Amino acid sequence: KVLILDFGSQYTQLIARRVRELNIYSEIHPFNKIPTDLRDYNAVILSGSPVSVRSDEVLHPDLSNIRGEKPILAVCYGAQYLAHFSGGEVAESNTREYGRANLGYIKENEDFFENIHEGSQVWMSHSDTIKQLPERGVLLASTEDVENAAFKIEGEDTYAIQFHPEVYHSTDGHQLLHNFLIKIAGVKQDWTPQSFVEETVEGLKTKLGNDKVVLGLSGGVDSSVAAMLLHKAIGKNLYCIFVNNGLLRKNEFEDVLHQYEGMGLNVKGVDASARFLNALAGKSDPEEKRKIIGRVFIEVFDDEAHLIQDVKWLAQGTIYPDVIESVSATGGPSATIKSHHNVGGLPDFMKLEVVEPLKSLFKDEVRRVGASMNMDAMLLGRHPFPGPGLAIRILGDLTPEKVRILQEVDAIFINNLRSWNLYDKVWQAGAMLLPVNSVGVMGDERTYEKCVALRAVESTDGMTADWVNLPYEFLQKTSNEIINKVKGVNRVVYDISSKPPATIEWE
Ligand code: XMP
Repeated sequence: KVLILDFGSQYTQLIARRVRELNIYSEIHPFNKIPTDLRDYNAVILSGSPVSVRSDEVLHPDLSNIRGEKPILAVCYGAQYLAHFSGGEVAESNTREYGRANLGYIKENEDFFENIHEGSQVWMSHSDTIKQLPERGVLLASTEDVENAAFKIEGEDTYAIQFHPEVYHSTDGHQLLHNFLIKIAGVKQDWTPQSFVEETVEGLKTKLGNDKVVLGLSGGVDSSVAAMLLHKAIGKNLYCIFVNNGLLRKNEFEDVLHQYEGMGLNVKGVDASARFLNALAGKSDPEEKRKIIGRVFIEVFDDEAHLIQDVKWLAQGTIYPDVIESVSATGGPSATIKSHHNVGGLPDFMKLEVVEPLKSLFKDEVRRVGASMNMDAMLLGRHPFPGPGLAIRILGDLTPEKVRILQEVDAIFINNLRSWNLYDKVWQAGAMLLPVNSVGVMGDERTYEKCVALRAVESTDGMTADWVNLPYEFLQKTSNEIINKVKGVNRVVYDISSKPPATIEWE
């Protein structure tokens, strides 16, 4: 297995993901908590960092048990760390070293660069630069602006790169990690979703013992897979609550509840539609709507959790992108774009400990884990759906009538995507009800009714997205069907904005 030492880079989890893509197990440990027993680790990766090796806050762990003992791949800060503390020189960079660059020189006959050729695009993101290699440093690659883009240490399996192989923009990043981990370090490729399930279930059994756990199911992939893992670990001690906030898709509450029961989960469906819709009445500000929904959800959930005797834990289906996106919401460095209500911890009054079995995984990995537990493919393939549901797709204030209209429109759109075999080609799709009326003519009558926007996007993680080029014929048929069948709608438009600068949801 691989030890990833985290120096605080925003990309550390991506390194872990790339390693898992090679079916290799990895563990992330903070740079200052290096495991004392290193026997089981076959390779070590040092992450990047927001800190400079030249600053007072420099992170300088003792790597003497690792250097020369284990194969090391030092990325970005890691590379600067090696240079700075081993006889090289790191200085502030005076050229642009952010974004795309191309490897202009690659040393020949190096396993590290096998199948990677000059011109290969790499992603840079650093403000310091390595001026001089450390002792025994051998230059392996350069870009136009960064001479010491990659080097190794003679006599050790220590490799260092100034760019980030873990981001997709480094087009040969996967190959480079493959070369380092498999060719150089000889790490076994035996991590699979099954092994994740086995280890996680064992871990949960030990952690939870005979304790009772409560979990909020949402109908989505993440909470469902989290529930299955916990169900395997603790069976009936897992109490699932599925709340109908009145903002779900058409028939979703009944259908999904039924499906959960079929999976053997101990689940209680709570219909709190009226409570949510009452609290939202007359509210049209997107953030206010989100906050109300978050608050009412917590109230409803708390009422239900109190009905379970001696519950000790709250389980959540948090996955890794939730953690990154909500950093800003909890006061991190980046601006708050939208306050996703399903992360951010739990209200004080609940006093439960939190268990999050999927916290290190990305969505596609969660799906693979679910599939390895034989969960239903339709459930696992479901598009993401926001916690606040249709509330953030009904622009402006909400009424039960608007919810009904949007449910009908959404159902036609989604069913058509399924019947045209387009559903699985789209990452997320939904309809938005716009707060404008426009004039139309139906038969001989003038109409003055609502407009809906359809949105379908491609994405890997929801952080960036592009609109999908759906066939004209599909759009034509869907638009006709919506206008003919859904009373109150006389116009359909298709959203052709990418994220950024737009977002996926309209609110
Ligand atoms: P945006 O609109 O920010 O959405 O581009 C990115 C992804 O996040 C989902 N989303 C949410 N999910 N609570 C959620 O659970 C929320 O408040 C929320 N807002 C957006 C959105 O559906 C998309 O998949």
